[in-house]
Amino acid sequence: MAYSFTINDRQVTAEEGDMPLLWFLREEMDLVGTKFGCGIGSCGACTVLIDGEPTRSCVMPVEAVDGAAVTTIEGLAKNGELHPVQQAWIEEDVPQCGYCQTGQIMATIGLLKYTPDPSETEVREQLNNFCRCGTYARLMKGVKRAAE
Ligand code: FES
Repeated sequence: MAYSFTINDRQVTAEEGDMPLLWFLREEMDLVGTKFGCGIGSCGACTVLIDGEPTRSCVMPVEAVDGAAVTTIEGLAKNGELHPVQQAWIEEDVPQCGYCQTGQIMATIGLLKYTPDPSETEVREQLNNFCRCGTYARLMKGVKRAAE
């Protein structure tokens, strides 16, 4: 069986329905901006948008995105313009090692969709991706800047 969906507005077809979407993105599509961290849906490094909702792609089988629109970090910038969250990340110099940052940006987009002006408590409660080098203070600044 074949599964059809879009990735960054491009129509794609996948054959292996039980393959994690993260594998499909990285190994089949060469979209390596989405990262592997824990592989069990815990850390958030693999977060992408599925129909606009942040989703941990390591635990999402390809068959579950049949007909959906997947957006990865590579698809955020449009017409040469960075997404506002990407721009805020640069302005606040958020990343340190950078490994978790694509997932953090995708999770922030999801956060701001429903909570456009979050309090620090709301950011702490809702933005639960891990950052091993601990840039949480700069992440907070980046979210606040993106919300402006
Ligand atoms: Fe998917 Fe950690 S790699 S949540």
